[in-house]
Amino acid sequence: MTAGMPQPQLPIDTSKPHPARVYDWLLGGKDNYPADQRVGETLPEEARGNAARNRAFMHRASAWLARNGVDQFLDIGTGIPTKPNLHQVVQAITPTARVVYADNDPIVLRHAEGLLISSPEGATDYLHADVGEPRAILERACELLDFSRPVALSLIALMHFLPDDQDPYGITRTLVDALPAGSFLVLSHGTADQHPELKQKTETAYKKGAIPLRMRTRSEVEPFFEGLDLVEPGLVFATEWYQEEPAPAQERSGFYVGVARVR
Ligand SMILES: C[S@@+](CC[C@H](N)C(=O)[O-])C[C@H]1O[C@@H](n2cnc3c(N)ncnc32)[C@H](O)[C@@H]1O
Repeated sequence: MTAGMPQPQLPIDTSKPHPARVYDWLLGGKDNYPADQRVGETLPEEARGNAARNRAFMHRASAWLARNGVDQFLDIGTGIPTKPNLHQVVQAITPTARVVYADNDPIVLRHAEGLLISSPEGATDYLHADVGEPRAILERACELLDFSRPVALSLIALMHFLPDDQDPYGITRTLVDALPAGSFLVLSHGTADQHPELKQKTETAYKKGAIPLRMRTRSEVEPFFEGLDLVEPGLVFATEWYQEEPAPAQERSGFYVGVARVR
């Protein structure tokens, strides 16, 4: 089932780079433009591997949640559809799972049909929305998700696009406060802790594209999980978050990740 159609049509400004399209370029996708490619090409080489490893974390964490009985997901900062998308991962385990996606890039909206092909037993919806308005997202997500039962909230590779003055911690708190006990926060966040020598190059590339980027240190990422119970292995680099599967040989990572349970 697909909910919430039809979607609005919004103009796409391809003259300016946008995080979703730069990320698409890094993942080897085709939904990006010269302005995005220029940012991608000026990023350190490691950025491509970091993007792929972040995406792989999203797959592992979502599958783990589905295997552990979570069947409702709210994914904000979804990105341009890249198979497998979150609903494909979780519906392969729980066909009745319901997934609400939200992103503020009109190009993601344009490709939303790729996110809306749900399993017949489950349901997906897409919201064109900005995480800076968390209450509006929650209000609309209620149309598909039942907030009296556990929901997994994914903020994956999103919050580093919110500078401190946009209150990323307060926004996360507002979203988490709407979740009942037994829900989860799944978060990944850009960091230069493992490769400080690449910090400046990364920040300069995004700055030139007028994309705000605020990579954070471990102590700056920890507060996103305040009041929540991190599941093992805790707040770690993307290359270290494994459950049943043994972690492969370690590579450096540009992302901190964590999955935490709401009390
Ligand atoms: C790096 S991509 C991550 C995509 C996906 N979550 C993943 O990790 O594979 C970041 C996404 O966040 C979206 N985004 C950035 N700022 C946003 C905001 N203020 N509100 C909603 N989405 C935003 C971008 O459009 C982009 O699709």
